[in-house]
Amino acid sequence: MKHRAFRPATILGTAALLLLAHLPQAHAEGSDNPVARGHYVADASDCSACHTVKGGPPFAGGMAFKLPMGSIYSSNITPDPTHGIGAWSEAEFARAVREGVRRDGTSLYPAMPFPSYARISDSDMHALYVYFMKGVQPVARATPAADIPWPLSMRWPMSVWKTVFAPAVQSAQQDVNRPFPDPAIARGAYLVEGPGHCGACHSPRGLALQEKALSGSAGTLFLSGGAPIDGFVPTSLRQDRRTGLASWSEDDIVAFLSTGRNRKGESFGGMTNAIVHGTQHLTPEDLHAMARYLLTLGPSHPAAPAWHYDPAAAAELQRGDATARGARLYVDHCAACHRTDGKGYAPVFPPLAGNPVIMSDQPDSLVHVVQSGAALPGTARAPSAFVMPAYGRMLSPQQIADVVTFIRAAWGNNAPPVDAATVAELQKSAPPPVLDGKPVPLN
Ligand code: HEC
Ligand code: HEC
Ligand code: HEC
Repeated sequence: MKHRAFRPATILGTAALLLLAHLPQAHAEGSDNPVARGHYVADASDCSACHTVKGGPPFAGGMAFKLPMGSIYSSNITPDPTHGIGAWSEAEFARAVREGVRRDGTSLYPAMPFPSYARISDSDMHALYVYFMKGVQPVARATPAADIPWPLSMRWPMSVWKTVFAPAVQSAQQDVNRPFPDPAIARGAYLVEGPGHCGACHSPRGLALQEKALSGSAGTLFLSGGAPIDGFVPTSLRQDRRTGLASWSEDDIVAFLSTGRNRKGESFGGMTNAIVHGTQHLTPEDLHAMARYLLTLGPSHPAAPAWHYDPAAAAELQRGDATARGARLYVDHCAACHRTDGKGYAPVFPPLAGNPVIMSDQPDSLVHVVQSGAALPGTARAPSAFVMPAYGRMLSPQQIADVVTFIRAAWGNNAPPVDAATVAELQKSAPPPVLDGKPVPLN
C-alpha cells in the first residue's frame, strides 16, 4: 500500500488524523482489496528481485541468469498483452508460478522458484493475478531470448526435471497444511517455505541442482545452508551453533529481515536483495511468524560445539602484540570499524566475533567481502546506508588470506585457515567492487 504524506494544516485536519489513528489498521495482507493483497503477496514472494532490473520499469524482466550452458532472462510479467502476460488467464498464470509451465506448455527453468511457489495458496494466487493484471503498468518490451545453443536450448529436459524434482501442487499444499504448534508458526512456515522461497538459496542442492529438501517436513537438510550465489554463501538458518541461527533471538531475526542489520551481523549479496525487494515490506506479525518458525528448525550439525567469546586475541592486540597470522593487517585495515575485540559497533559495523558468516565452512563470502567490499542500502525502517570498503587493490591474495584467517581464528571463532591459492581461485569470480550499490573503481 502506498503511504500518502499528510499535511494537517488545520486543527480539524489534525482531529481527523487522530480519529484515523484509532481506526483499526488495515494491513495489506488481510485487506479486502485484492490488488493491495496481491501486492503484498508479490512482496512476500520477492517477484521484483528477479523480474525488475535496477532502474528499469517494474516487472518488465530482462535480468540475466547465467546457467552452465548459457544465459536465460527473467520474463516481462507486466500486463502488456504482446510482450507480457496481459493475455494470460488466471489458470495459465497459476500454472506458470506454481508448476513452472509456460503458456505454450513448455517448461520454465527452475531459476524461477516454482518448486517453492507450489505452496502458494489459491487465495494468494488469485490476489497475485489481480495485482499483476490491475496494479502493474504494462510495458511493451520483449524479453530477450535465452542464449543457450541448440540442442541444450530444448526445454523438454526441464519437464523431465520437473516430473522428478518439483512437487505436485496438491502434495505441496498438503504439506503446507501439516500440523504446527500454533497458527503463527504455521503462517511462518508458509511464508518461509512457500512465497519467501528461502530454501532456493539456503538449502543445499543435488547434482541436478534440485533442492535436497523443500520443507521443514523433509529433514534437517532444509535451510541447512546453500551453495554460493554470486560468490556469497547462504548460511544455515537452522539452530546450528556456530554456523546457523542458534544464538539469534526472535527479535534478532525480525530486525535482520526488516532492516538488513541487527546486533549480530549485516546483510550482503543476494540477502540484501531478498530484504530490499521482499522481507522489509512484510508486517511485523508476519516477520515474527517467520522468525518463530525458523527457531523450530533443529541443527543440521548437532555435534558442533557452542561458540564462546575468547578474549585472548583482543588482549594480544590491545597490548601491541600483532604476531598472530594476519593480526597486523587486521589492526591496520579493519579494527577501526570492527574493533580489536571483534565486537564492532553494531548495527553500524557488524561484529566479526561469533558471526556465523565468519565461521562458515566455506570462506567465499569473507574473501569476496574483503576483496570487493559490501554496501547495505537503507530500508524503510532503517534509512541509513553502510559501506564496507573494497580491499582488492590494496591487499595481495596472500594478505587477504592472512586477514581472513585471522578473523576466522580470533575471538573463539576457531574456524580453519584460508590459503592464498584459495583466495586467488575465488578472485576469478569476484563480484564487482561496490559503493552504495554502484560499482566504483578500486583504489
Ligand atoms: C529467483 C528469481 C525469480 C523470482 C523470485 C521470480 N521469478 Fe518468475 N521467472 C524467473 C525467470 C528466470 C523466468 C524465466 C525462466 C525461463 O525462461 O525458463 C521467470 C518466468 C516467469 C513467468 C513465465 C513468463 C513467460 O513468459 O513464460 C511468470 C509468469 C513469472 N516468472 C512470474 C513470477 C511471479 C508472479 C513471481 C513472484 C511470485 C516470480 N515470477 C518470481 C525468475 C524469477
Ligand atoms: C537470493 C538468495 C537468498 C534468498 C532468496 C534468501 N537468502 Fe538469506 N542469505 C543469503 C545469503 C547469500 C546470505 C549470507 C549473507 C548475509 O549474511 O547477509 C544470507 C543470510 C541470511 C541470514 C543471516 C544469517 C547470518 O548468520 O548472518 C538470515 C537470517 C537469512 N538469510 C534469512 C533468510 C530468509 C528468512 C529468507 C526467505 C525469506 C532468505 N534468507 C532468503 C541469500 C538468500
Ligand atoms: C569503514 C569501516 C569498515 C572497515 C575499515 C572494514 N569494514 Fe568490514 N564491514 C563494514 C560494514 C559497514 C559492513 C557491513 C556491510 C554490508 O552488510 O553490506 C562490514 C562487513 C564485513 C564482513 C561481513 C560480516 C557481516 O555480518 O556483514 C566481514 C567479514 C568484514 N566486514 C571484514 C572486514 C575485514 C577483514 C576488514 C579489514 C580488511 C574490514 N572488514 C574493514 C565496515 C568496515
